[in-house]
Amino acid sequence: MNTSSAPGKVILFGEHAVVYGRPALAVPVTQVQATATVAGTTRPGIWVEAPDIGLASELSRLAPDHPLAAVIRSVFAALPPTPLRGTPPICFANGGRRKGVTIRVTSTIPVAAGLGSGAAVSVATIRALSSFLHSPLTNDQISTLAFEVEKLHHGTPSGIDNTVITYAKPVYFVKGQPIETFRVGKPFTIVIGDTGIPAPTKESVGDVRKLWEVDRPRWEKVFDEIGEIARSAKEKIESGEWRVLAPLMDANHALLQQLTVSSAELDRLVEAGRRSGALGAKMSGGGRGGNMIALVERKNAPAVAEALKSAGAKRTIITTIDRTPEV
Ligand code: MEV
Repeated sequence: MNTSSAPGKVILFGEHAVVYGRPALAVPVTQVQATATVAGTTRPGIWVEAPDIGLASELSRLAPDHPLAAVIRSVFAALPPTPLRGTPPICFANGGRRKGVTIRVTSTIPVAAGLGSGAAVSVATIRALSSFLHSPLTNDQISTLAFEVEKLHHGTPSGIDNTVITYAKPVYFVKGQPIETFRVGKPFTIVIGDTGIPAPTKESVGDVRKLWEVDRPRWEKVFDEIGEIARSAKEKIESGEWRVLAPLMDANHALLQQLTVSSAELDRLVEAGRRSGALGAKMSGGGRGGNMIALVERKNAPAVAEALKSAGAKRTIITTIDRTPEV
């Protein structure tokens, strides 16, 4: 049996513009997790169970573009076929009683909320299944396979979700470039507030593309401004000047409003956060629904979380960004 977990993620700065080559900053959120468990079974076949969404099916019965089926098939396709781990049906070396495999996926990450639930399910499944088949894939390979599946969820994803979730480190992400992490000079705390409104990233990313196609110069300028904010935020985080992130968050939110990806509910939570003592706030992720983040003094975090709930947040997470990896 093999079990793997992957965290959720939150984008601090740069969503949407990152799809157009600008940098973005994202951090893992370990309070929520996707977990995949792979185990041999006496029942022949490859069985997929995801109780959170009421799924229990043989793999071959799932549509080819079903994200979970796609991720499982991509693992089999990536591994060299051997008598131990052929393409389905799996042959077990012991020729014994275990004729099949069960892949069970659970997640505490809210779906379509901007917290990377799809990428986390993919990463946990790829890691657990490849290890179970005695060919654990590297982080690079896992992130690449998860990115392929992200394309089914998102259409034209930048790759930031699969990257930050695979490596489970703060990431300064530029599409197509090698992973770059960043140092956190001084820990800082954010409150994540969930509107509870599911909003598929594919739709907001698609709508931004439509805007961009109609007036590229206008939106390229907005992407440039967002990219500048992300660059400057990285410097401030590294030098420990985290309070300066507050005006950068406010400015990033205003630009996302221009891109039409905020919503009345997100704006309400952002305002409520600021009014209740947050230093700055912005929507996070694909937008329209999903999550916002508020930068707070640690001691004010519970009060800001309460204020977000009073303003309609369905759940809140308080998280401190304190990892200082080698860069
Ligand atoms: C989604 O978490 C972030 C977006 O920038 C889309 C992407 O980068 O793939 C909205």
